[in-house]
Amino acid sequence: MSGRSILITGGAGFIGSHVVRRFVRTYPQYRIVNLDLLTYAGNLENLRDIEDAPNYTFIKADICDAEAVAKVFQEFAVDSVIHLAAESHVDRSITDPLAFVRTNVFGTVTLLNAAREAWAGAFEGKRFYHVSTDEVYGSLHDDGFFTEETPYDPQSPYSASKAASDHFVRAYGNTYGLPFVLSNCSNNYGSHHFPEKLIPLMINNIRQNKPLPVYGQGANVRDWLWVEDHAAAIDTIFHRGVNGETYNIGGHNEWKNIDLVKLLCAVMDRKLGRAEGTSEQLITYVKDRAGHDLRYAIDASKIERELGWRPSITFEEGLERTVDWYLANTEWLDHVTSGAYRDYYENQYTAR
Ligand code: NAD
Ligand code: DAU
Repeated sequence: MSGRSILITGGAGFIGSHVVRRFVRTYPQYRIVNLDLLTYAGNLENLRDIEDAPNYTFIKADICDAEAVAKVFQEFAVDSVIHLAAESHVDRSITDPLAFVRTNVFGTVTLLNAAREAWAGAFEGKRFYHVSTDEVYGSLHDDGFFTEETPYDPQSPYSASKAASDHFVRAYGNTYGLPFVLSNCSNNYGSHHFPEKLIPLMINNIRQNKPLPVYGQGANVRDWLWVEDHAAAIDTIFHRGVNGETYNIGGHNEWKNIDLVKLLCAVMDRKLGRAEGTSEQLITYVKDRAGHDLRYAIDASKIERELGWRPSITFEEGLERTVDWYLANTEWLDHVTSGAYRDYYENQYTAR
């Protein structure tokens, strides 16, 4: 696999930026093309440390723009895709479902068409890797885990759009022979996470002494994985996953939201030198999310058994590292919450 030319979509987002960084640094012999529209969730400040690497190129484009995507395939002789670009926030999907259909379904099919046309049936050495979510499986009660065989049962407009995109990827494999791999991962946490999602939102609010909005009773359960372990899993699947296969990725790390928020409060109190129990007083129970999935939990035994991947750090360690990163990068948080990160693109790219 030397000298690959990999198109990574959504590389300016949370997970995408970790994947881009990992591939640019680990594989100097690969060309990494990061195609991202820079929506509100895309932030090139996430990639400052590698933006001048000789094997890295950034392209601002929309995955729904067939012409722009085809041009990238041609110009860079793309032989592989790692597709992460998406609308990713469940709450936004409840207020604007069509934006999710557009990007997650239409955008994915546009990319699939581009790959199919560019590779023109010469599929040897080609790979389309679709990054998906455990939410496509729906919601669990108290017992059981999502396996790769769990029937799809998406419950939110976000998960319905991701489920549709997964079906299209498999349909292109079945109908046209497009070589693909797919993975469904649980909730990620770590640095560069947009503070509309639970963990960075709580960290940001705790530091600013703002209310901590817990939906419903805080009884919903999520299975948290450190984002760099997800990036490592993507690397493993990209290189060693079997064509046509799906791999579930998860951290064996279930937390009830309220317990997680209380743990975060305790960690933050310690780091900020506040008296024990101070930040917990900020917890505010708010109206529940519509159709709120109760529990996600991943059975990751397939990727562990077949590809030898495992999470590298414990949740306690990951959370310490994550909180440390946000406290050392309050400027990043301030830029993201004020919208100033958008200026970075203007300054960085219009001046060139
Ligand atoms: P994110 O919202 O942080 O980033 C999405 C990126 O996609 C942004 O950089 C955005 O600018 C870009 N983008 C959006 N629409 C685009 C378009 N039309 N054309 C080009 N680029 C566009 O998302 P994330 O949390 O990093 O998630 C990345 C992927 O991983 C998504 O496909 C998501 O469904 C999946 N996933 C996320 C999690 C999680 O916990 N965050 C877990 C499992 C799977
Ligand atoms: O499971 C994987 C999915 O995890 C990804 O596919 C999604 O892209 C990602 O956003 C995430 O979805 P969730 O809905 O689980 O993540 P979120 O951070 O939005 O919420 C986590 C839990 O916390 C959920 O039960 C809702 C709750 N919550 C969230 C927010 C933002 C609150 O109680 N308060 C909040 O303010």
